[in-house]
Amino acid sequence: MEKTVKICMTGFGNVGVRFARMLLEQERQLADEYGCRVIVTGVCTRTRGTVINPEGLDLGALLIMKEELGRFDSEYPGFAPDCGAPEMIERCGADIFIELSTLSVKDGEPASGYIRAALEHDMHVITANKGPEAWRYAELKALADERGKRYLFETAVLDGAPLFNMARSCLRGCEITGIRGILNTTTNFILGEMEKGGTYDEAVAEAQRRQFAEADPSMDVDGWDGAAKICALANVLMNAGATPDAVKVTSLRGITFGELKAARTQGFRLKYICSAERAADGALRLTVAPSLVPLDSPEALVNGTSNIITIRTDMMGELSIIEKDPEIKQTAYGVYSDLLSIISGERE
Ligand SMILES: NC(=O)c1ccc[n+]([C@@H]2O[C@H](COP(=O)([O-])OP(=O)(O)OC[C@H]3O[C@@H](n4cnc5c(N)ncnc54)[C@H](OP(=O)(O)O)[C@@H]3O)[C@@H](O)[C@H]2O)c1
Repeated sequence: MEKTVKICMTGFGNVGVRFARMLLEQERQLADEYGCRVIVTGVCTRTRGTVINPEGLDLGALLIMKEELGRFDSEYPGFAPDCGAPEMIERCGADIFIELSTLSVKDGEPASGYIRAALEHDMHVITANKGPEAWRYAELKALADERGKRYLFETAVLDGAPLFNMARSCLRGCEITGIRGILNTTTNFILGEMEKGGTYDEAVAEAQRRQFAEADPSMDVDGWDGAAKICALANVLMNAGATPDAVKVTSLRGITFGELKAARTQGFRLKYICSAERAADGALRLTVAPSLVPLDSPEALVNGTSNIITIRTDMMGELSIIEKDPEIKQTAYGVYSDLLSIISGERE
């Protein structure tokens, strides 16, 4: 018999909308391969309204409203004015809470608080937001374990590329001793444009024109996005217990075409590298900095908006994953794959 799984969501922006569409696209797969019907019982946004119905919302109608009105219609049954995430969590009767709200790099809130509330309501949690893993991982994971619930975040770093899944399921018994990579697509694109001869300002403008960079690019070029990512990775994979303010960050601003060209002539490329390395004294060093990488290294081959991560382990040596030009579909897939993991009853 088909089981019904109820989910609720915070955030109905780029990721929320693409994930909602994926749920509709994969309806048959969910039924045929997982014996499951997924219904959405609550969606909460910051300024575009909240909708709740413990019996299930019409996801297709919500997508049309978002597209045509830019928000939920106040006439729609279940429209809940002034209802924030904690109240939605309380009222919607979901089994799984999916956190897709905006990243706050300075403290991981309010997303971490929403996750805590959902776990306390005995919901499993999936998030695309790296803020909670960067700021509150140990506490949230302990709470999830205590309540016997899953807390999954595959898409928080490198979109849907199976990074946390690989570490969890395929590297059993290994100790992860180092992590490094190109984790920010915007800055990798900017460096590539500058290598063609452009100035830093021209490269940022091109990234903005192609919608890879925000109007204010500081989150990317000043390394804060990278700091949150390497911190989240180190917390989850190396038990670091760190916060992003402990990451030593060097901004990309001030890099010149001359430096990029000189690097090439000496057999290197300049890349914006995030790393977590254990020093000889056992201390963990987290850094985000422009770094020289040899021309024959995998990192030197990663161009445009692609990413790479390399994980160093005691028993399996080094493993790298390259994610080629990720788009929003890959981000939504990471959330969907976490959902399938919960639906299939997988344990850690
Ligand atoms: N876009 C990507 O490719 C990507 C990749 C990996 C991870 N992520 C992560 O995924 C998350 C969502 O990204 P996105 O691109 O979808 O962002 P987005 O398009 O800006 O959408 C954010 C959504 O969250 C809602 N929101 C913000 N604060 C909220 C709050 N306090 N309570 C309830 N809803 C709230 C917003 O509502 P309003 O519209 O009313 O403000 C909006 O619906 C972020 O944490 C991001 O870092 C994104």
